[in-house]
Amino acid sequence: MDLQINSFEDYKRVYEYSVAEPEKFWAGIADTFTWRKKWDKVLNWNFTEPNIRWFEGAKLNITENCLDRHLETLGNQPAIIWEPNDPEEDHRVLTYKQLHDKVCQFANVLKNNGAQKGDRICIYMPMVPELAIAVLACARIGAIHSVVFGGFSAQSIADRIQDASCSLVITSDGAFRGGKEIPMKSVIDDALVRCPSVKKVIVLTRSRTPVSMIKGRDAWWEDEVKKVETMGNPDCPAEEMDAEDMLFILYTSGSTGKPKGVVHTCGGYMVYTGYTFANVFQYQPGEVYFCTADIGWITGHSYIVYGPLSQGATSLMFEGIPTWPDAGRLWNIVQIHKANILYTAPTALRSLMGFGLDPVIGKDLSSLKKLGSVGEPINEEAWHWFDDHIGHNKCPIVDTWWQTETGGIMISPIAGVTPTKPGYATLPLPGIQPILVDENGKEIEGNDVSGNLCIRYPWPGMLRTTYGDHERCRTTYFATYENLYFTGDGCLRDADGYYKITGRVDDVLNVSGHRLGTAEVENAINMHANVIESAVVGYPHDIKGQGVYAFVVCPEKHGTDESTRKDIVMTVSRIIGPIAKPDKIQFVSGLPKTRSGKIMRRILRKIAEGDTSNLGDTSTLLDPAVVTEIKEGRI
Ligand code: WTA
Repeated sequence: MDLQINSFEDYKRVYEYSVAEPEKFWAGIADTFTWRKKWDKVLNWNFTEPNIRWFEGAKLNITENCLDRHLETLGNQPAIIWEPNDPEEDHRVLTYKQLHDKVCQFANVLKNNGAQKGDRICIYMPMVPELAIAVLACARIGAIHSVVFGGFSAQSIADRIQDASCSLVITSDGAFRGGKEIPMKSVIDDALVRCPSVKKVIVLTRSRTPVSMIKGRDAWWEDEVKKVETMGNPDCPAEEMDAEDMLFILYTSGSTGKPKGVVHTCGGYMVYTGYTFANVFQYQPGEVYFCTADIGWITGHSYIVYGPLSQGATSLMFEGIPTWPDAGRLWNIVQIHKANILYTAPTALRSLMGFGLDPVIGKDLSSLKKLGSVGEPINEEAWHWFDDHIGHNKCPIVDTWWQTETGGIMISPIAGVTPTKPGYATLPLPGIQPILVDENGKEIEGNDVSGNLCIRYPWPGMLRTTYGDHERCRTTYFATYENLYFTGDGCLRDADGYYKITGRVDDVLNVSGHRLGTAEVENAINMHANVIESAVVGYPHDIKGQGVYAFVVCPEKHGTDESTRKDIVMTVSRIIGPIAKPDKIQFVSGLPKTRSGKIMRRILRKIAEGDTSNLGDTSTLLDPAVVTEIKEGRI
């Protein structure tokens, strides 16, 4: 069976095959990777425990697939092109050979510092090539990386380090982001007060921000590299990993409690990210691929590091932000590096649209061939702006729907091959079997229907567990509907059978493409000394997609309403991080609750959205009068 997809007809044929013969299909894809030993069985699974095992018995190391196997043919090709935050600073290019050497070198640094296969290593770094090097060096020696996004607070980092009992932390002195300098090491120092498991901290020099270096615990990246250089042998043989050994943990927000550590394993994740990258973007040798995500999120893991590198692509990574020094920055980067593929987020597009066309005019975007969008629903206006002004109506836009838990792209057009439709993720990729269900888990068949999106068959990139708490994995994803993986997203399938993701149906917000649990934000707000209770909901926000609206019960304030609001925002920033700051805080005397004490979020959501005409039946509330007060106090 030929698995190449060059036309819509090919797609239909391969898709049908992948459903009829999933194990044969995935074995065919997996055959294109390098294994130390091939699998005994392609797939073993059940969604009840759940227990999912792909390529059982196979042995590999993902970095041999991302680096070693390219050395002969692509050794001198750029693997990573790095564009710094400050356009005045020189960009850097690392060829596959150079990246291989640096990964081996740093893998030896990790070993020298006591790291072993199976250890958990927390990485908290800016978007510099050394971040990718650190990630790959962990994978090289079989250590499990847990990357924490730079926008999280010390408290959030500490929670994540403790949850996984990390023994080592890799960070930098500071970070540049737009006009700001962020004291990374200092944040880590605050976190580590609560993390006795951490024995070593390796600190990269980036910003020369003054830092405290603790004897015996902290070491400079550059000094450690020098040590291994003087030891002679620069090579670091890759650790042989079982296909189902853990590759990494990535924490993500859910509808309840604290973030959970989504676990991905070596074999399946490698096959899935490599295949989807090559297929969705129809990557051609020599193309420059630019993904604007941060490696702190799943998009960066799968589509800056592992996916592109396993396919021998040139991955362009950017340290800064789209609006600094001005709103033309992304277009300058495309022009300078002649990027052929641009993969970005709707929130970035919407914020750039706000600056009008001046920053785009005169920029040479003629190198672009394919565009992609990820992280949240893309509204039609942003889709058309992307198509008209960036792609000049000649670049297919792939609107890629997926999740941290899915490891890679699930529903998406295939660039230039399958049709696109503004606002639609369109069709499932080969191997993916989506299903829509109603609240009772009954399948909604046919077209022109809406429901909750589930997946009914395993795919290699899916999560295997949530770290240290398998039961949480089961209840969150596999217990809502029997024998189905539940995504948490609502979805419609139109008359043509195309899928459009309509947003989360659980208590998860998607703010600028970042996932936040409402309970998580409420817990943080409630930490403020005067707050008795709070309820957080999302509301439509022009740029962020969703904004955070907090209803807060705080009868005794220290200072004015305005200063208390600022204090609450600061509290949230300390507890979770700046990314979770509420956009609006309304003080209320009470929250609408049912007689059993459950907060009626539906009502609060409607008020936050400004749709107060029909709030439904409020007579069952404990105190219906509070609704009138909240309605009138809306901001
Ligand atoms: C949302 C990001 C609509 C969705 C890769 C999902 C999308 C959540 C799209 C996962 C898209 C992601 N269209 N919604 N193309 N892509 N989402 O884990 O609600 O950060 O459940 O993974 O983002 O966010 P996460």
